[in-house]
Amino acid sequence: MKSQPAGELVVPRSVAVIMDGNGRWAKNAGFERIRGHERGIDAVRTTVTECAQLGVQALVLYAFSEENWQRPQREIDLLFKLLKRFLVEERGTLMQNRVRLLHSGRRERLAKDVLQLLDDTVAATAGNTGMKLSLAISYGGRQEIVDAVRAIAGKVQRGDVAPAAIDEAMLHAHLYHPELPDPDLLIRTAGERRISNFLLWQVSYSEIHVADVCWPDFGKDHLHAAFRDYGQRVRKFGKVT
Ligand code: IPE
Ligand code: IPE
Ligand code: MG
Repeated sequence: MKSQPAGELVVPRSVAVIMDGNGRWAKNAGFERIRGHERGIDAVRTTVTECAQLGVQALVLYAFSEENWQRPQREIDLLFKLLKRFLVEERGTLMQNRVRLLHSGRRERLAKDVLQLLDDTVAATAGNTGMKLSLAISYGGRQEIVDAVRAIAGKVQRGDVAPAAIDEAMLHAHLYHPELPDPDLLIRTAGERRISNFLLWQVSYSEIHVADVCWPDFGKDHLHAAFRDYGQRVRKFGKVT
């Protein structure tokens, strides 16, 4: 086993993950891309369970971006088949860990059966008082801001909000889940150094950790390494320490 980086493991209050590299994992192993997505589910279970047990309050997992709709239809179909399987098979794990499921993203393009399962799981876990887990599906950071602006514009048009009253707090309040704290730590796997339209509003002061492993290989040790890395960061929020 690889040695762990030195330093204290500090558990962030809020974590967001860009789960990348499923395709590359499969290619390296000589499989079709979909096998990488399949194996990615195991990594989701590990990260969700470990975050919940360590006391993370909110976890947002980027599962399908607005831009991912441009992938081949076959891959999209298989991804949603896996998502449905995840929602059915992992409900027990969510309940055991007292995890409350949420969905971040646009509903318009999601199939009825996907929405039904999502809504059912959200409802079934609504009473759980542990970690909040938001799955970002059909999600885009720019689209989320556009949706918030549209909602506020509607209120301005009805005369309920004065343009001068629009501030950061109001925009924040119109995001998909304003109750979720901004991520303290953003993790991206597969060595990529990009945001790829994830949580654009919320990551303004997130610490970023890039893990070189592809998502299906991201295990407990990698999560702990990310939390140790986080523990070394000095967060200044623009101030002088
Ligand atoms: C991430 O893995 C999963 C999704 C975007 C749904 P990718 O499918 O992007 O894997 P790579 O980047 O091609 O290796
Ligand atoms: C970001 O990964 C989206 C998800 C992890 C769901 P992508 O693989 O789609 O991002 P790019 O295309 O490399 O930026
Ligand atoms: Mg990718």
